[in-house]
Amino acid sequence: MRVLYVTPECYPLVKTGGLADVSAALPPALNAIGADMRLLMPGYPAVLNGLSNLHEVGELITDLPGCDRARLLIGSLPDGVLCYVLDAPSLYNRPGNPYLGPDGQDWPDNDLRFAALSWAAAGFCGIEPYDPWWQPDVLHGHDWQAGLMPAYIALRPDRFGGPVRPATVLTIHNIAYQGRFGAWMMGDIGLPSSSFRVEGVEYYGGIGYLKAGCYYADRLTTVSPSYANEIQTAEHGNGLEGLLASRADNVSGILNGVDYGIWDPARDPHIPAQYGPDDLGGKDLCKAELQARFGLERRPDAPIACVISRLTWHKGLDLVLEAAGQWVGWGGQLVVLGTGDPGSETGFRNLAAWHPGAVGVHIGYDEALSHHVQAGSDLILVPSRSEPCGLTQLYGLRYGTLPLVRRTGGLADTIVDANPAATIDGSATGFQFVNASVQEMLWALRRAIALYRRPERWQAMQQRAMTRDFGWHRPAEEYMELYRNAIPGLSV
Ligand code: ADP
Ligand code: GLC
Repeated sequence: MRVLYVTPECYPLVKTGGLADVSAALPPALNAIGADMRLLMPGYPAVLNGLSNLHEVGELITDLPGCDRARLLIGSLPDGVLCYVLDAPSLYNRPGNPYLGPDGQDWPDNDLRFAALSWAAAGFCGIEPYDPWWQPDVLHGHDWQAGLMPAYIALRPDRFGGPVRPATVLTIHNIAYQGRFGAWMMGDIGLPSSSFRVEGVEYYGGIGYLKAGCYYADRLTTVSPSYANEIQTAEHGNGLEGLLASRADNVSGILNGVDYGIWDPARDPHIPAQYGPDDLGGKDLCKAELQARFGLERRPDAPIACVISRLTWHKGLDLVLEAAGQWVGWGGQLVVLGTGDPGSETGFRNLAAWHPGAVGVHIGYDEALSHHVQAGSDLILVPSRSEPCGLTQLYGLRYGTLPLVRRTGGLADTIVDANPAATIDGSATGFQFVNASVQEMLWALRRAIALYRRPERWQAMQQRAMTRDFGWHRPAEEYMELYRNAIPGLSV
């Protein structure tokens, strides 16, 4: 089973969110069960510099302006997985965030930058494939950045109708990001003008890259079963609910996993002391050092709630801003590591200034620090308005940092609320609230602090959380099954 995994992000080379963690962990997990996975990524400087044994495998000729010729390279990721790179300096040779320019705005040519990525992916199955010895059975794209790939396969048999018609799979990691561009681009992206219609790439008068993928891909997946249902409703579908509901038989949700090689407090090099479910002593040290690092009072008895997040509206962190005063009043502390909307950043900076010694805030992106915050905190807050899967609550479970989450998407699927029944039957792993209101969040925080004041019960729940298995082996099996079903008659 040969699968080309087309992604704009992969940890540790390029990361703006959870997609990067997934792209680093899922392909090796699939390789471990017999798949032959290779990645395709844009040639950002961090990718060209981060791969080993990089060399050229072919040349790409496209219909896209500014990218009529580009090189296709191949190299190895740090864990040995092979990664193709689209080396088109005019599109990707830009430092920093992969989508935003120095002014914080989207690059004006993002339409071409990611049309080129999709074109390159489809070219693996072209009339003249780059690598005749490695033609994928499946093209598996991720998010809007790969949305045009299924459209190229479906609509350009003159270029991409090679000897093997691949199955196309598109995974939606977040339906809020859709890749919408003006209709005038239609002449530049190499698709027939006849596809500019509702049964095609047209989307509210413009071109929708994610919409195109949702329309043309053979199979659609998203990153949790609950989110797969939610995106077929007006509340969460962001305009794509009708199309997705009409394709319900081909939409499924596969929960993300955790790479325990990276996220495990028993062998995490980024934390001051290692610990595990049988000996939580190291966690106390991590907490003391976290309090020192964030200028908090050194109080072992103060529960620390943390946030590790992009600061955007859909993460619901305005609720944390509102609830923080009360939490501090109850004797709690708060640590925030995040970056994003300027208004939210200012809100958290002010909060820290108003509560010296009780609230510590680091505005910025810091991978190593995120491990220390996980290890040193007691609770992790994820009050998202929508959350396709969410990874930080899964990391929290493994670090004995109990998640307090809003019941939505993957948060609903992964955290068992400490209600009386779940407490008695021993299945509870965290705290949930239902509506995005500060009252409901405070009630969940109140339940959490009450349990925290009963150390034996708290520790029992930590140990249960730490031993839950969200490894990648199960999701990998589900993707394998999906690939097999997407290729009728394939025997592997
Ligand atoms: P999303 O992809 O929507 O941002 P996820 O929970 O799936 O949400 O993934 C977020 C990832 O980004 C996690 O690996 C988390 O630890 C990391 N992260 C988020 N904000 C920061 C930050 N400021 N510094 C370091 N890591 C962060
Ligand atoms: C997106 C989602 C997040 C998910 C991640 C990886 O960024 O917002 O919920 O965990 O993708 O699939």
